[in-house]
Amino acid sequence: MNGSAGARQPGPFVRRAAMSDGLAAAPAGLQVLPVPGLPDFRPGQDLAGAILAAAPWIADGDVLVVTSKAVSKVEGRLVASPTDPAQREAFRRELVDAETVRLVAQVGRTKIVQNSLGIIAAAAGIDASNVRPDEIALLPEDPDASAAALVGAFAATGRRVGVVITDTQGRAWRNGVTDVAIGAAGVLVLEDLRGGSDAFGNELVVTQIGLGDEIAAAGDLVKGKLAGVPVAVVRGLATPGGQSPAEQIGAGQTAAALLRPYEEDLFRLGTDLSIEQGRREAVLLRRTVRTFTGAPVDEQVLGRCVGIALTAPAPHHTRPVRFVLVRKHRAALLQSMLAEWEADLAADGWTEDRIAGRTARGQILHDATEIVVPFVTGDGRHDYPDERRRQAERTMFTVAGGAAVQALLVALAAEGIASAWISSTIFAPMAVRAVLDLPPDWEPLGSIGIGHPHEPLIPRPPAPVDEALLRR
Ligand SMILES: Cc1cc2nc3c(=O)[nH]c(=O)nc-3n(C[C@H](O)[C@H](O)[C@H](O)COP(=O)(O)O)c2cc1C
Repeated sequence: MNGSAGARQPGPFVRRAAMSDGLAAAPAGLQVLPVPGLPDFRPGQDLAGAILAAAPWIADGDVLVVTSKAVSKVEGRLVASPTDPAQREAFRRELVDAETVRLVAQVGRTKIVQNSLGIIAAAAGIDASNVRPDEIALLPEDPDASAAALVGAFAATGRRVGVVITDTQGRAWRNGVTDVAIGAAGVLVLEDLRGGSDAFGNELVVTQIGLGDEIAAAGDLVKGKLAGVPVAVVRGLATPGGQSPAEQIGAGQTAAALLRPYEEDLFRLGTDLSIEQGRREAVLLRRTVRTFTGAPVDEQVLGRCVGIALTAPAPHHTRPVRFVLVRKHRAALLQSMLAEWEADLAADGWTEDRIAGRTARGQILHDATEIVVPFVTGDGRHDYPDERRRQAERTMFTVAGGAAVQALLVALAAEGIASAWISSTIFAPMAVRAVLDLPPDWEPLGSIGIGHPHEPLIPRPPAPVDEALLRR
């Protein structure tokens, strides 16, 4: 396999020195040749025929690098557009939205989006350059299929070529646009060196070479520099073997191989979009979780979440909320609440069996990894001579406590920590204060069972608003 490049029949191309067995040696050198003299293509024109007429010298093993715009034009992917610049721009934006499957990033009016083929590009690859002022070109519908059709058309003339269809793209973190492969046939576009080793014996763990994009960029060196040259030929690469076009196409790869799957994308969303989405989803992450893994909850994280909770609104510029992390006295607390609960139910005339069945629900607080009891204190509460206003003032502080508890639960959820807000302490305030040794004006607002969930928390959709939002 590592014989001289000249003697070899075309085989899978590797243009670096062989790094492991089974890969071909580097070819002696490459030529990148422009194909000048091509027309401004129109729908229905024979692209292969035109290329061949302009470059009869195209030979076996050449790789044709074809600008997607030319393919779009012959395939009729032109849309009539208004010529007025503002209307044309608005229309172009509509087309971008129509081609968008996923918004990847947005800065100002610039949108980086994924189209239905999985290609991620600014404005879905739609641009109004190099087309008539009353038209806009969309990307080819299936650039891999377009490339395969070109390979087939050349095979029909006895030439075994590979084809790369290119688009010009900006790149994250790098200035300057380059051409990349959005369609391919009869060539290798992704050279996988993983599992091999370099000349020093270091194992190559992640190295995959984006040959398709390298070929596209090489082609652009001659296409881009000469106006009206939509096709270049890269000569000297070894294209995959196979006698029939089908065999050759089968031995190559499609440009889809260059698309990183969503799950492997470390940068799924632009930073601003991530922050926006995170904010929107934080509240939706919280739900009542009643069983926990038992893995310890980081106390620093818990402290941070309490700090967030204390930013909840409260009346009279007060901070009337306290959270008590109950560890030492948990058993005593639960026992004394249970005793009070049982006494209440017995007084209601319940049988022992029924009482046992009902109080079993208290198990959540036994099993939770941590429990926190929230309180509202009387600090800053105004006093009134009449009961109506005293009650209103109490309600005001209670609702402020509720806001802080919800804030704590949301903050925990945002850290991946689950919770269940349980009513119990509300019904046994005196027992709670006695066991935890707290002042008489501290009102417990339930208990919060906290722990790591068995399944990661995922945001749920907002509830239907219908009857809950009234207008008067
Ligand atoms: C003040 C309050 C007390 C609650 N008490 C209990 C309780 O005693 N036992 C329980 O299992 N859930 C309790 N919950 C949780 C509710 O049952 C739960 O919030 C509701 O079913 C909605 O589910 P979600 O929290 O997952 O949206 C309580 C919730 C609140 C706000």
